[in-house]
This record gives sequence, structure tokens and C-alpha cells, in this order.
Amino acid sequence: MLAGGGGSRLYPATKSVSKQLLAVYDKPMIYYPIWTLVDSGIREILIISTPRDLPAIEALLGDGANLGLTLTYAEQANPRGIAEAFLIGKEFIGDQPVTLILGDNLFIGEEMSAAITESLATFSGGAQIYLKEVPDPERFGVVEIGLGGAITSIVEKPAAPQSNLAITGLYTYSPDVVSVAERLPRSTRNELEITDINVAYLGAGALRHRVISSRVQWIDAGTPDALVAASLAIQTASREQSSEFGYVELAAYRRGYLNQESLLAIVDQTPSESYADRLRSAVANTAR
Ligand code: TTP
Repeated sequence: MLAGGGGSRLYPATKSVSKQLLAVYDKPMIYYPIWTLVDSGIREILIISTPRDLPAIEALLGDGANLGLTLTYAEQANPRGIAEAFLIGKEFIGDQPVTLILGDNLFIGEEMSAAITESLATFSGGAQIYLKEVPDPERFGVVEIGLGGAITSIVEKPAAPQSNLAITGLYTYSPDVVSVAERLPRSTRNELEITDINVAYLGAGALRHRVISSRVQWIDAGTPDALVAASLAIQTASREQSSEFGYVELAAYRRGYLNQESLLAIVDQTPSESYADRLRSAVANTAR
């Protein structure tokens, strides 16, 4: 998980606090992407952030042992691009496939974790990206899809988008992504660009994609408007369904990474009655 960056679009809220620690409705933003990973069956997570923010993130999440997770931490000295995550995470990745999620990306929808789980189960190397139809593709990396259904091009923030399919902040790669990143030149803004990584896999004929269901909401919560939209979406989901979005504790419990007794021990230490109630009611509603 990459959870650093400058957060300039949220200044001054980010002047002394990481964007990823700002609240999205009832939880810190970082809970949601972690929830997405854990709910999809990923329990070993390296969290990369700035030297300033890493201690606060670590104070929030700890080593994950109480949730049956393994959380480790690494610094990104300067915000030199999303693809730098693969250089920082080289030892962590080793010879295993790796999934990267951005700390400000929320995927809100029941179907998302099942889609990721399926993609991971059938992952056969190369790269797997997740696309979402958006009304404003010019803000994102956009793909063009050919008649055969394969991606034919990727353009970063195109003035005249060839499709409305944006590349979201969730990617899976085979371990050779480290050497792809090592060979990558820096862009004109002096960053290692994730788009260049994807273009490299596209060129090698190894880029696969999945279009995220229209029933899943994708929010890149990096602007004031998006941050409010994210809070409202989570509030709505919590009211309308017995939503578990972002409850990392519940994802770990559902996955069997912690048992009921351990979850109830967490409930006992939760000072917010409403948060504790949500955890408790999920236990009560489960037949596990
Ligand atoms: P962005 O939102 O593109 O960048 P930012 O967080 O610096 O925000 P702003 O543009 O407002 O200054 O980053 C997307 C995500 O990736 C976000 O969670 C931060 C993270 N990120 C890093 O951790 N390191 C980096 O070098 C970059 C570019 C992003």
C-alpha cells in the first residue's frame, strides 16, 4: 500500500496530517484500502509512507497481529512516484506476485472483494489492472480497448480521452515488476510513473484488465469534494445496508484471520459505542 504523497490538494488539512489519516465518515481513510486488501484475502501488507507520516500510521495500525495480519512499514523519502513502491518493496515482494493499492482509493461495493479474489486466484503473471467507467476520464490514466476486447493504448490524463475507462489505484503484478521499475526512466516531473509500468506490460502483451461493476463505487478521495463524497457514500452505505466497508476488523474476522473471542476483545477496548456496536452486531449476525 502506498500511503504517502504530498496531499497538496487537501492543504491545509494535510499540513501536519497524512491525507490517509483524515476521517472518511467514521474511520481513517487508510482503513478502506486495507479493508479491500484483507477482504480479498491479502494479509501481508507493506505500508509505504513519508518519513513524517509513517510513525502516525504505524501508531494507528501497529503490526496487525491482533487482527491476524502482518503489517510492515517502509519510508518513501520523497514523493517520487507511485512506481517507486516496487523499488522500496523489493525485499518484501521477493519472488511472489504483488498487489499495490493506493491509500486514498476507496472501492465501495459488495462485489469488489469477490472480483479481486477471483482475479488473484486466476492470476498467471504479467499485470492485472482494474478499470472503472468515469464521467471525467481526462483526470486519470485512460485505456483504449480494441475490437477484440484487449487494451490497445494507455494515455495519462488525455485531453481528448478515447474511452471513459479510467485505471484505478489497484494493480497486481508478477514479481518481475521490480526489474521493470528498475529499468524505468524518470518522467518529466521526475517521478517513476505507474502508467509507464503498465505501458511496459502492454508492450509485452501481458496486461490484463477487469472492468469494475457499475454497482461498485470507486472514489479517489484526494480532493475536498471527493473526500466529502466518500464520507457521504460510506454514511449512506452504513444506513442502507448493514455495511461492513472499511471495518478491517470484520474483514479479518470474516476471512478467519481472527476468531470471535479475539474480535470481542477488540470490541471491549473500543471507546466508541457505535463502532463497538457495529463490530458486535456483525458477530451476532454471523453463523461462523
Ligand atoms: P496523488 O493523489 O496523485 O498525489 P498526492 O497524494 O501527493 O496528492 P496531491 O496531488 O494532492 O499533492 O497520489 C495517489 C496516492 O498515491 C496517494 O495515496 C498518495 C500516494 N503516493 C505516494 O505515496 N507516493 C508518491 O510518490 C505518489 C505520487 C503518490
